Amino acid sequence: MCGVVGYVGKNLSRSYVMQGLARLEYRGYDSAGFACLDEKTEKLGCIRAEGQLVNLVKALEGQPLDGSVGIGHTRWSTHGVVAERNAHPHVDCLKKISVVHNGIIENYQLLKEQLSKENHLFRSETDTEVIAHLIEKAISQQGLLQAMLTIVKQLQGAYAFGCIGEPFKDTVVAVRKGSPLCIGIGDKEMFVASDVLAFAGLTDQVIYLPDETIALVHAGFLELYDFEGKQLFLVPQRVAVSWANDGKNGYEHFMLKEIFEQKTGIQATVSWLRELENGPWEHLGMTETQAQELESLTLVGCGTSWHAARIGQFFFESIAKVRTSVVLASEFRYMPFLPTGHSLYMALSQSGETADTLECLRMVKGHGCPTAVLTNVASSSMVRESDGYLLTKAGQEISVASTKAFSTQLAGLYWLAHELAYQKGLIDRQAVEQAYDQLLVAAEILEDSITRYREIITQRYAPYYAQFDKAIFLGRSISYPFCLEAALKLKEISYIFAQSYPAGELKHGPIALIAPDTPLFLFSTLEPVIYQKILSNAQEIKARHGHLVVFAFEGQDELCQLADLAFTVKPVAPLLAPLAMTGLMQFFVYAIADALGRPIDKPRHLAKSVTVE
Ligand code: G6P
Repeated sequence: MCGVVGYVGKNLSRSYVMQGLARLEYRGYDSAGFACLDEKTEKLGCIRAEGQLVNLVKALEGQPLDGSVGIGHTRWSTHGVVAERNAHPHVDCLKKISVVHNGIIENYQLLKEQLSKENHLFRSETDTEVIAHLIEKAISQQGLLQAMLTIVKQLQGAYAFGCIGEPFKDTVVAVRKGSPLCIGIGDKEMFVASDVLAFAGLTDQVIYLPDETIALVHAGFLELYDFEGKQLFLVPQRVAVSWANDGKNGYEHFMLKEIFEQKTGIQATVSWLRELENGPWEHLGMTETQAQELESLTLVGCGTSWHAARIGQFFFESIAKVRTSVVLASEFRYMPFLPTGHSLYMALSQSGETADTLECLRMVKGHGCPTAVLTNVASSSMVRESDGYLLTKAGQEISVASTKAFSTQLAGLYWLAHELAYQKGLIDRQAVEQAYDQLLVAAEILEDSITRYREIITQRYAPYYAQFDKAIFLGRSISYPFCLEAALKLKEISYIFAQSYPAGELKHGPIALIAPDTPLFLFSTLEPVIYQKILSNAQEIKARHGHLVVFAFEGQDELCQLADLAFTVKPVAPLLAPLAMTGLMQFFVYAIADALGRPIDKPRHLAKSVTVE
């Protein structure tokens, strides 16, 4: 899983490829590499470096390597450890052909064995390298297109790859099956990339390669073929995407900046949804009647988006009285699929590119069921492939740990649940408008609570809790999925082990884990019945001398008095309790990771958008 970039055109490729890689680093940052057909020597040159892109920038310093045909790659490792030898581009035996790849070649072991028997020399542990050797072999026997048609028949799995080589000097070959790949068409220059962001600002004329396409990309023209060799003629579409990274704006990390952008993100999201010309249903690919008749909703996502969906389940079931199931995308795809009538399948994804979620959409669509997506990226694959979509207006999220995408998803789901309830005649228009006001109040509280505790967390609490190497997170009802998100945030950016449980489940086993070296973080709710249960759980913890930190609401004094440390937040509409607490929770976790000196925006082993299954 990775970012793929290519350039062929009137200019030298290196600066374009490197700029593209910088913008695609969210797809992986284990290592990076650049290859081109050198202008002076006309030979293939390739430079790679382990670690973040900055290391490749350093490796390229003082190296004259450049040419008008080039490719580059930023890696999130699947096969083979993080090392320069496993960084892309990979080359064939004679180092005349090089390949960058996003995806997984599932039958690479078999292909590697066969090629090794034919004396091909392998230098890496990756699946990708087989592509370079297959091309080497095929091109010695046939023309470029025929060679590519031969090898796509041999490759199994999902892949998007770019390839350049001395035998086909003026061309970048781009091949797509499953994983995304697009081509930007400029004036006597072409850009190839996993994401249009890579060339945003250079051209807005884009061809998204259809699945199972081979593109032979030349400076002034493009040849497209399907995997049977039939030529395709596609009209480019105008895609207005801009690269809006204005830096950290004075904040120490993107994550901190994005935590503080949540209030405006929530406001922008709700305003966008509220002002949709024909209401949300047309945008979701549905009629109002279909919305009225909706009996079940399935929400699918991964990571933080899955947590937002699980909180959203409470919105749809409580407000719109629609049965809602929430499924992890990586599980859903391989579960028995039992379609029902009057249902909607909705993906949640910040990026709109996560492979597991995208594959679920494709599978559901394949069964003829209605699909929609709630995403932050209007130009994403999920928007293009689902029947309808809604957007969160969080603005570009750079930090790998998701913050403002989560809170804007919650806002979007809360608002949609009200629109659905209205459509079903359960609430009037005034109640929908009230939801809008409730969201704005929650957004204010989200930010105010960070400001209120910022200093003391930074000075006192974060350094203290950074000393523990494990923690337990507890929640109940709507605060349970929220505690899952809190634990995920802590794991992602601090590397502290964090286990979450529904608080009521503690007594069924996990209570044995209570010990002085394991703080317990308990998240309260605003539902009176649930609050009483949470109080009992807090008592159980204290009876065993557990170290208890509570995230509560003002007025919940009994709970706060039981705790070793209590944070309080102003009350909001009960279902918005997690949204109101989001900022404080994220900041607390951020400050712990910062106290530990972790690379917060790019934690080890992670990537922002996971485009392999
Ligand atoms: C990766 C990221 C997570 C994110 C998840 C889902 O695992 O590290 O932060 O929540 O992908 O991403 P999506 O773009 O689909 O919301």
